[in-house]
Amino acid sequence: MEFPVKAGAPAKQKTECAILPVFDDKELHGATKDFDRAARGAITKLIRGGDAPPRLGSVTLVHRTQGTAAARWLLVGCGRRADFTAKRLTTALAAALNSLRSGGTKEAVSFLGYDSTLSAADTARHSVEIARATLYRFDELKSRTDPAWRLTRLGLGYSAGSSAGEIRAGIKIGTAVANGSDLARDLGNRPANVCTPSHLAEAARGVAKRSARMTVKVLDHTDMKKLGMGALLSVTQGADEPPRMIVLEYRGGSAKQAPIALCGKGVTFDTGGISIKPAPKMDEMKFDMCGAGGVLGAMSAIGELQPDINVVAVIPACENMPSGRATRPGDIVKSMSGQTVEIINTDAEGRLILCDAITYAKRFKPSCIIDVATLTGACVVALGHVYTGLFCNDEPLAKALLEAADRSHDLAWRMPVHDEYGESLRSNFADFANSGTRDGGASVGANFLSRFVDGLPWAHLDIAGVAWRANANKGATGRPVPLLVDYLLNAGGQ
Ligand code: BES
Ligand code: MN
Ligand code: ZN
Repeated sequence: MEFPVKAGAPAKQKTECAILPVFDDKELHGATKDFDRAARGAITKLIRGGDAPPRLGSVTLVHRTQGTAAARWLLVGCGRRADFTAKRLTTALAAALNSLRSGGTKEAVSFLGYDSTLSAADTARHSVEIARATLYRFDELKSRTDPAWRLTRLGLGYSAGSSAGEIRAGIKIGTAVANGSDLARDLGNRPANVCTPSHLAEAARGVAKRSARMTVKVLDHTDMKKLGMGALLSVTQGADEPPRMIVLEYRGGSAKQAPIALCGKGVTFDTGGISIKPAPKMDEMKFDMCGAGGVLGAMSAIGELQPDINVVAVIPACENMPSGRATRPGDIVKSMSGQTVEIINTDAEGRLILCDAITYAKRFKPSCIIDVATLTGACVVALGHVYTGLFCNDEPLAKALLEAADRSHDLAWRMPVHDEYGESLRSNFADFANSGTRDGGASVGANFLSRFVDGLPWAHLDIAGVAWRANANKGATGRPVPLLVDYLLNAGGQ
């Protein structure tokens, strides 16, 4: 998808379709006003007649475009002008592209960001991201695919006064985030018989190959054993599919600058193990590697944007299967940190693979560790499908992540990690257990992970509710790639 910048007189832009905002306002503004003037009041007439409602996301296609160079107008409701935000712009643009994508239009120009008090870099970046997300499809495994969308060019209309440099910078970031999100979506949507731990490792090699500043190393079962990753090994134990620990290093900063460490849960299928899950919706557990996908997507964007920072990604990947060799409830294992864990519930496996990944990541002497995981059903109960759960032991890191979440429209909500959430992890037989009370389960999971970071600034992103959508729109969302990339781009010099 291409995003040419269209600066200058809106009504003179030649396009198959001009996407124009309609605000809940007495007067027309910006590009819509320019079109209306050129068309001798035709738009005013439509709005007065109630044919182009201003309600956010409503779309009206108009073919009689006399006086303007556009073959069609798509009038898009944008709500009250005073309430218009970059977020609302994306809702309006998604509605517009949804109505255009199945038609014959090959090219359109969006004027939604033309006359706005919003930053041009921001509207450009978010227009690119939402357009790519709206036009994303996953049909690589269908033998009969519908023809590809015809729409492949979306011009971004801006007034002559806006800064071309800012707009281009926004498009660049938006494109890198969209490419990374597409990678995360593809990996998430691939079934577990395709997206195996080795498949994730191959994807990581692909990401590293595209950037001169990135290197990749993949640990296998023998390496894990040598390193004493007993917690991770206990999860993969029941599976025939071999596990992988993927280590990606991006070096864009100075050699002495501490890297930011990202750890992504890569359970390519979570049956629950011996503590097996019920059958309904178990297919969705192919998405249990979306933490890994999100981290790989973020690394892909970082490789593309080349910021002056150092980042290391540590991705533990395996299956959680029941078998005659599988870990039993009550088994006790020794993690790489030396701490022993009683496995009360084999379905609390994410924390077991992540704790060894966190211990391994500490070898890189990172300035902070951010882990990303579809860790708990309890987080879905708490926050639904809107906010990522953010658990953090460090105020500046929490603040930076929440600000990145706001800027990227990839929302996160702070959740508690108080020590008392760990009380139910007490064990009579090992240092502690891998699962405790169901109540406050998301914080219990976070408390477990906190025992492996000893003192380092650390954040845990529980993406169980946001990494994929169920029902008719079933599929991976690509979250939290936008949040991670925004955070990393603003973490320079840390
Ligand atoms: N991958 C699941 C969490 C999950 C469940 C994410 C449903 C999204 C939707 C995780 O491995 C898990 O099974 N967690 C358990 C933990 C419990 C046994 C302490 C859970 O949430 O039930
Ligand atoms: Mn599980
Ligand atoms: Zn899981």
